[in-house]
Amino acid sequence: MKRILVTGGAGFIGSNFVRYVLTERPGVQVVNLDALTYAGSLESLSGLPGEARHAFVQGDIRDRGLVERLLSERQIDTIVHFAAESHVDRSIAGPEAFIDTNVVGTLRLLEAARAVWLGRGGSAEGKRFHHISTDEVFGSLGPSDAAFHEGTPYAPSSPYAASKAAADHLVRAYAHTYGLPASITNCSNNYGPRQFPEKLIPLMILNALTGKPLPVYGDGAQVRDWIYVVDSCEAVLRVVERGRAGESYNVGGGNQPTNLEIVQQICAVLDARFPDSPYRPYSRLLRFVPDRPGHDRRYAVDFRKIEHELGWRPRFSLDEGLSETIAWYLANPGWLSAIGRRDDYHGWIERNYTKRGADQ
Ligand code: NAD
Ligand code: DAU
Repeated sequence: MKRILVTGGAGFIGSNFVRYVLTERPGVQVVNLDALTYAGSLESLSGLPGEARHAFVQGDIRDRGLVERLLSERQIDTIVHFAAESHVDRSIAGPEAFIDTNVVGTLRLLEAARAVWLGRGGSAEGKRFHHISTDEVFGSLGPSDAAFHEGTPYAPSSPYAASKAAADHLVRAYAHTYGLPASITNCSNNYGPRQFPEKLIPLMILNALTGKPLPVYGDGAQVRDWIYVVDSCEAVLRVVERGRAGESYNVGGGNQPTNLEIVQQICAVLDARFPDSPYRPYSRLLRFVPDRPGHDRRYAVDFRKIEHELGWRPRFSLDEGLSETIAWYLANPGWLSAIGRRDDYHGWIERNYTKRGADQ
């Protein structure tokens, strides 16, 4: 039986990954280490399938002693490292927490794995340190540039992206220098259930539903490569199980709308779903606001390596993924209340949409 330490498993992608692994791999045990920052919530772990195979530990990845104890006492053979500060705007407002968690935190995890797995009497056999990274390490593309591939030089723009790039380099250095069996996935923009509503898609869904302005940065012509979170979790598990140690794999959704198009698509779904809403057409709520400093213009991911080597490709279209996501937020106002957005959204959505509209 595999024993996986998932870090950041109470956050958006981490909690979806824990759910995915427990469902798809009945022989796997998960230890979930999360500090429960503003972005993590135990509510994201409620109703887990195979709950008896999941153990939650509240703690910090920078606590090397704790991580070493978990690795040895729970006989962990696989680490899947999601924990991070993940929001670009927050990194612009205050970069330090990003260095502390994303760089120092990753270093401490690597050191713990080196000590327990490769220390006296240890062996790299059957072990894997998988690091979750981002396409943002590659910087920004021009309109006709080719998509990011695994060999694209790193050119991070934001403090967030720079901290993730630094962590990637550390992971590579540990693989190269100490023979730590490590792999990396560099993934594009995820969206789906349980994403904290500071990121574009959940923010726009919840603001629209409650009649608040929809703030589009700059001209709204920036392009991201959107991937539904279930596809992203499937890619991670594929690399953890079958990817080559020492390698990185790019993961993308193959959808590249502009931000404005995404927001308009969300508005169109809501228009069709709530024909009597006083906010209809929802696009009336759209507002252009000052741009994010240093805003990357375009991301696009070439995922041919994982496709050719491991047979993975995204299965959800943007239409399907967005519909699933909107339906999830409508059906789960309790999650919003648990993450502290009660005043903003919870009661309102429950009164106005969930009870009468979620099943329409
Ligand atoms: P998130 O912000 O939703 O969740 C992060 C989780 O990490 C939270 O549960 C938080 O409590 C936990 N955490 C933070 N600091 C910690 C610490 N010091 N010790 C233990 N736990 C800590 O993030 P997300 O969007 O789910 O992203 C997960 C990972 O995927 C990150 O590494 C991020 O860089 C990467 N990534 C995200 C996206 C995306 O679109 N969201 C895309 C590519 C890569
Ligand atoms: O590319 C992968 C990255 O995607 C991940 O590594 C990050 O963790 C994740 O946060 C995400 O970063 P982005 O900056 O691309 O995501 P965000 O949702 O913050 O913004 C998406 C786009 O929408 C971006 O061009 C900025 C714009 N935007 C965002 C917000 C929150 C707006 O126009 N208005 C907004 O209110």
